[in-house]
Amino acid sequence: MNLTVFGIGYVGLVQAAVLAEVGHDVVCVDVDAAKVERLNQGFIPIFEPGLEALVRDNHAAGRIVFTTDAALAVRHGEIQMIAVGTPQGEDGSADLKYVLSVADAIGREMAGPKIVVTKSTVPVGTADKVRETMLAALKLRGREELGFDVVSNPEFLKEGSAVADCMKPDRIIIGTDSEAAEAVMRELYAPFNRNHEKMIVMDVRSAEFTKYAANCMLATKISFMNEMANLAELLGADIEEVRKGIGSDPRIGYHFIYPGLGYGGSCFPKDVRALIRTAGDVGFEPVLLHSVEARNNAQKAVLFDKLKAHFNGDLAGKTFALWGLAFKPNTDDMREAPARVLMEALWAAGAKVQAYDPEAMNEAQQIYGQRDDLTLCGTKEAALRGADALLIATEWKNFRAPSFELIREQLATPVIFDGRNLYDPAVVARHGIKYVSIGRKAAG
Ligand code: UGA
Repeated sequence: MNLTVFGIGYVGLVQAAVLAEVGHDVVCVDVDAAKVERLNQGFIPIFEPGLEALVRDNHAAGRIVFTTDAALAVRHGEIQMIAVGTPQGEDGSADLKYVLSVADAIGREMAGPKIVVTKSTVPVGTADKVRETMLAALKLRGREELGFDVVSNPEFLKEGSAVADCMKPDRIIIGTDSEAAEAVMRELYAPFNRNHEKMIVMDVRSAEFTKYAANCMLATKISFMNEMANLAELLGADIEEVRKGIGSDPRIGYHFIYPGLGYGGSCFPKDVRALIRTAGDVGFEPVLLHSVEARNNAQKAVLFDKLKAHFNGDLAGKTFALWGLAFKPNTDDMREAPARVLMEALWAAGAKVQAYDPEAMNEAQQIYGQRDDLTLCGTKEAALRGADALLIATEWKNFRAPSFELIREQLATPVIFDGRNLYDPAVVARHGIKYVSIGRKAAG
């Protein structure tokens, strides 16, 4: 099928590449000419396992094309997928200006029937706004007779496993009130719906809301667990034991109950805030969501507070090794990363940071530039040299079994503050290192 994808960001690029891989002809369009040119030269703007090869192969085979030409792009696709960003507006709501400018462009350029699919995470009611915007553009051209459907088809991919999530989705949510549009969407996703039925078809508003409800549920699990972790410390319990104890109940499950430094990334923080805002718009007080957000904001400061207590409030002039900058492993994304909150608090207290991350070094360089109190180190070992403590903010695989001897030798004072509970406290203590983690008693 011929498909057009607007917006070559995370969601758009991964979804386009995966749909091209199964044989669809995809035109990707973006307003960022430099990005389009670099993609045409084979440069992939994000780090995502498996994506580079997928884009390269399908580009070479001509199944995926990158352009800035919106008119050409609109002509190409029977399906027009909107995957542009929905940045957070000043009031916490999702800003729809990019989504609606795409709707306007489709309305201005279309010459035949189209199915317009919203893929970006958009507030309930956005499909109606897309429809109105397109109708207004068609009216200006005197072409109101041109038919179209607006379908909500939210994305559930996770950064770091986005290609795999797209290739093997848990579910494909289709929000539409049109049987014809449903049939076209079924054809588009047929390659991913072979073994068992993954399509869940519903009305448009329910589909839009499903995305927010899913992310807010997951954010709630995390904030709940962080609250339990903080409480466990005060009660002399070990949250890692409690986690196993409750996760074994299938009604609770093991997923998304890892305590830590709070959720970050481009989705959970933004989506929780946006739903709070949406609830306010309809006069509803979302008490639970407010608490989920408040717990998360407080959680990002937990490691810093422990550090401050350990050094009796005196962090000025000290140097700290920081392992992990990305908001989670397998990505270079630092948006709303707990590591940023930690680093910025350290700087404000007059401390210096020697940081290492397997993928996010360029990102950190771009965000913070050159500064005296940040050294970006080439290896995790180099970050340790002479530091007053090691801090861990991201659970990258290669942080899991470090040489504790080397850590003890390299640090000026042997203490680890672990925001991800990577180690067994008894093992770290055996190596003569003090170990402070989340929701467990300090050891060593
Ligand atoms: C999230 C959802 O998991 C996806 O299903 C959704 O499609 C996506 O948002 C989106 O809306 O586009 P993502 O933001 O890539 O995906 O990352 P997650 O793996 O969900 O992690 C989010 C945050 O929660 C990270 O900061 C992670 O460290 C934290 N987390 C996760 C915990 O603190 N504890 C856990 O047990 C799990």
